[in-house]
Amino acid sequence: MSIEEIKQNVFKEIGNCKNFQELENIRVKYLGRKGKLTEILKSLKDLPIEERKKIGPKANQLKNQIQVALEEKKDFLINNPEVKPLDFTLPGKKIPQGHLHPFTLLEKQIEEIFANLGFEIVESNEIETEYYNFDALNIPADHPARDMWDTFWLKNSSAKNDSLKNQGKYLLRTHTSPVQIHYMETHQPPFRIVSPGKVYRYEAIDASHDIQFHQLECLMVDENISFTNFKFIVLSFFQQLFSKKTEVSFRPSYFPFVEPGVEIDISCPRCHQKGCSLCKNTGWLEIAGAGMVHPKVFEWVNYNPKFVKGFAFGIGLERIAMIKYNIPDIRLFNSGDLRFIKQF
Ligand code: PHE
Repeated sequence: MSIEEIKQNVFKEIGNCKNFQELENIRVKYLGRKGKLTEILKSLKDLPIEERKKIGPKANQLKNQIQVALEEKKDFLINNPEVKPLDFTLPGKKIPQGHLHPFTLLEKQIEEIFANLGFEIVESNEIETEYYNFDALNIPADHPARDMWDTFWLKNSSAKNDSLKNQGKYLLRTHTSPVQIHYMETHQPPFRIVSPGKVYRYEAIDASHDIQFHQLECLMVDENISFTNFKFIVLSFFQQLFSKKTEVSFRPSYFPFVEPGVEIDISCPRCHQKGCSLCKNTGWLEIAGAGMVHPKVFEWVNYNPKFVKGFAFGIGLERIAMIKYNIPDIRLFNSGDLRFIKQF
């Protein structure tokens, strides 16, 4: 196509075109990388100088004219109400946004409540020696209480270190209580800590049991800590987490590392003690193992039990999330099912 022929066609085509797509096609046809005018401009360098001087300015002038005509047509299309090519007021496409896992949300809320009560948040190991998971918590090897926790032992892991703390087999911690020992070995009272983390138990998986779950350990030690302090912290925590109406109750129980040992129950947050399926019509939910720190435990970490007292409790975080959000099955947490996660 010659310059003349292009001139004859292009402006007519621009004049007739009715939408942006057509206009873009015209631009590509003449000015695109393989466009008709582009080809002519590209071939200029092969022409004898005389001809180049004649055709060059013409071709460039036409290119400018086409560009101007395209711009004008574009303005016309934008302003023409019948074309409605671009509606700037239409809502854009929403980009799906990620968010925190319900479990993480809960963990943050719990940590905030404890931080406001003056507790420090501490992290600890998931792999422990027998010493930290059992012995220093007053559970010697032959003690029947070891059966309270079904343990995952690590293979070929008999630790050969001389120190008692590293002797014995390695295991995946069965509870967060070993953090009590680690912390007291390296800190002096007074202190208040909470430590959330994963724990492992070798048990059959069903709607309320998993081999891996989370606990939060709480430990407060000072010279004159009493059961009253303990009760106050427990009550404030559960009232902030559920509601002001929540009541707590302490039932005698047994854990080798506390004396007295108790099981903490809270009034059912769903039915407020009227009786429902969640609390199996008892009005109460079992929520934590707890007690006053056993003097033997203080001895293991070289504290003098005559002068220091403390309380500790361990709560299952999945259980709390299930109660709070009405989640029927613990397996949903790690199912990766977006229909579950997107509800939060
Ligand atoms: N570690 C205990 C358990 O997992 C709970 C507990 C923590 C009990 C602290 C007493 C004190 O069952």
